[in-house]
Amino acid sequence: MWGKRRDMTVRRQLPFNAEPPASVLAGDEVTAVNVFYCRNHGPFPDITPDQWRLTVDGMVDKPITLTYNELTSLFSAHSVIATLACAGNRRAELLKVRPIPGKDPWAHGAISTAEWRGARLADVLNAAGVHHEGALHVAFNAPDVAPEAVPVQSYGSSIPLHKALSEEVLLAWEMNSEPLPRVHGGPVRVVVPGYIGARSVKWVTSITVQPVPSENYFQALDYRILPSEADPDTAAPGEGISLSSLPLNCDILVPGDDNEVPAGPLTIRGWAMAGDGRSIGRVDVSLDDGRTWQQADLQPAASQWAWRLWSLTVETHPGPLTLTARAWDDAGVTQPESPASLWNPRGYQNNAWAHVELRVLDSPHTPRLVTDSVA
Ligand code: MTE
Repeated sequence: MWGKRRDMTVRRQLPFNAEPPASVLAGDEVTAVNVFYCRNHGPFPDITPDQWRLTVDGMVDKPITLTYNELTSLFSAHSVIATLACAGNRRAELLKVRPIPGKDPWAHGAISTAEWRGARLADVLNAAGVHHEGALHVAFNAPDVAPEAVPVQSYGSSIPLHKALSEEVLLAWEMNSEPLPRVHGGPVRVVVPGYIGARSVKWVTSITVQPVPSENYFQALDYRILPSEADPDTAAPGEGISLSSLPLNCDILVPGDDNEVPAGPLTIRGWAMAGDGRSIGRVDVSLDDGRTWQQADLQPAASQWAWRLWSLTVETHPGPLTLTARAWDDAGVTQPESPASLWNPRGYQNNAWAHVELRVLDSPHTPRLVTDSVA
């Protein structure tokens, strides 16, 4: 289980893919490493810090190769609390709309937050004399081989140079003050706060500055929003919309789907996150499918790049109950209402209103409705 808690839901053993129970995520704004979700496309490479090398080449004045000691001692270390979210998080709700063959039914847990520490990617690119002309891209490559890729190839992806030069983007060697665990990309991974998790390449060993986005399968073919009628098996490279910035989104973590709760006060907990660099303005919760709303209490943001946990205590009565939540950002934008309007053939980026269905049970403290005695 790669040091993970036994209550993780393992979506696949090999490659290892697992998500924590939603309620575990509600406990802390920084997720413990032993419950942080794992998303992998191939078996993990086993690289010791001594063996690890990073080459930086392409549109730079002086290509460089760094050892682990050089990266960690020649460049200043910076920390950022950032949420990583897989583009497939909340796919389970899209699967209720239409089937999505071959893709895992991630529920609420393919998202977690950590404090990452490492060198700024910008500092490393500047040390190599990165060129600034035009709209360049920074491509990352790793040695893990993904059998699902067509053709089979190692994992890679890219981000635009303007994002790569932003101060929040790190080459991280620590996670929550521990050396970066192998399962999360140790000894060194890229962390791209505000972008889909797929761009935060683990076990990164080469960086190339180039005029076009990466041609790697996971950039050119996967992690794209295809038109709903497209066939993902025949889509051409570059078809569909390439995913980069995370959209405005929120979710309900507690109580969970199909929970039974006693009638009376119920505390609802969840997270909300705005798109690349924006902030959350408000989170609304509804107990009547969106006819009326109450405003949740937001915890202060741990960083511009982290989710905001929220909570709201409501009064509940016996019977079935649907909880709904939606977030608004600081530009007054809110989330789309239904997963049906977002369905896409690979099941990415579900940011529809969050729903949880419960059963509220009679509690000894609930005054009984006296409908029977009226007659
Ligand atoms: N990097 C490599 N080398 N191989 C991978 O399979 N998966 C990506 C990204 N980086 C991946 C990778 C995806 S899809 C996500 S969501 C995040 O890593 C997950 O990071 P985590 O497993 O540390 O949570």
